[in-house]
Amino acid sequence: MSKIIILAIESSCDDTSVAVIIDGEIKSNLISSQWIHAQYGGVVPEAASRQHVETIVSLSDQALKEAAISLQHLSAIAITRGPGLMGSLLVGISFAKSLSLCLNIPLIEVNHLHAHVLSLFIDQKPTLPLVCLTVSGGHTQLLLVSEKFKIELLGQTLDDAAGEAIDKTGKLLGLGYPAGPEMDKLAKSGVPKYKFPIAKVNDFNFSFSGLKTSVLYFLRDQLDSNKEFINENLPDLCASIQDNIVKSLLNKLESAAIAHNAISIGIAGGVSANSQLRKEISQLCTKYNWNCYIPKMSYCTDNAAMIAIAGYHKYLNAEFSDDHFLPLARYPII
Ligand code: KG4
Ligand code: ZN
Repeated sequence: MSKIIILAIESSCDDTSVAVIIDGEIKSNLISSQWIHAQYGGVVPEAASRQHVETIVSLSDQALKEAAISLQHLSAIAITRGPGLMGSLLVGISFAKSLSLCLNIPLIEVNHLHAHVLSLFIDQKPTLPLVCLTVSGGHTQLLLVSEKFKIELLGQTLDDAAGEAIDKTGKLLGLGYPAGPEMDKLAKSGVPKYKFPIAKVNDFNFSFSGLKTSVLYFLRDQLDSNKEFINENLPDLCASIQDNIVKSLLNKLESAAIAHNAISIGIAGGVSANSQLRKEISQLCTKYNWNCYIPKMSYCTDNAAMIAIAGYHKYLNAEFSDDHFLPLARYPII
């Protein structure tokens, strides 16, 4: 039987990524991150689209080369349909549609949030049911994966994403963008001695916008009496904010996993790089005897390998798309 070879493309935000998957095995996964946004303190959508245009063709070439595949070997093209920035998605989708038309091979649209969850199934076979916490700059979701990859949304943030909360409070502290890695590093030498409220939200949902406001008012009051307050207490401030976010994520993860009789816990998205979160999730899994799945970093942040594995499963089920679909900034359901 001939091999199933899929070229997968991800361009939903500020990373261009292309991967090749052969019979379910990732052969290449290249990621080009856009550093241009750091100077603006956040992603500038128009700049992101332009960078995708500049990068997408050469990155696809490299990904094919690394996998030792040429265009005529491809069985299908998998592409992120959303959620994400409209302009960025449009670049990837237009490119994928052109390739599929020129090569006369099927096109497979992928939900980016499904793909984050399926990243747990690259190189590993988690036992189900599994509860996945997807935490990034744009998403914070709790998802249940039951038999046969049925994915159900259990809860999500009602306002800011966890990574967004880190980036926004990091900005108040004068950290660069994105603030996550620096906050993580500084927090290691700090003590979480400042207590900020954890939002009380129903069910398995989250809320982080109140944290940003309480940090803002707290800093304003402290700076009134001591202009050097942030400089003198930066590690403790980072440790306190990080601890608040990690605790609120873990509280909900723990209750969702108990309520749904989970056997396994997974974590995905850029915030899953956080050392405190990784450590405390492992401890939680040990406490309840849950299997713990934390993908390697290149599969945690936005990447095309996760689009490839999602595309591969859709290919096996012959779930192909016509070439008329448009990007979706938001998916109505996950
Ligand atoms: O998944 P990702 O690369 O991009 C999307 O947002 O989709 O996630 C980026 C987010 C940013 O908010 C960044 O501050 C956060 O992940 N992040 C971290 C760490 N590394 C990245 N947050 C906490 N600790 C880290 N070590
Ligand atoms: Zn993402």
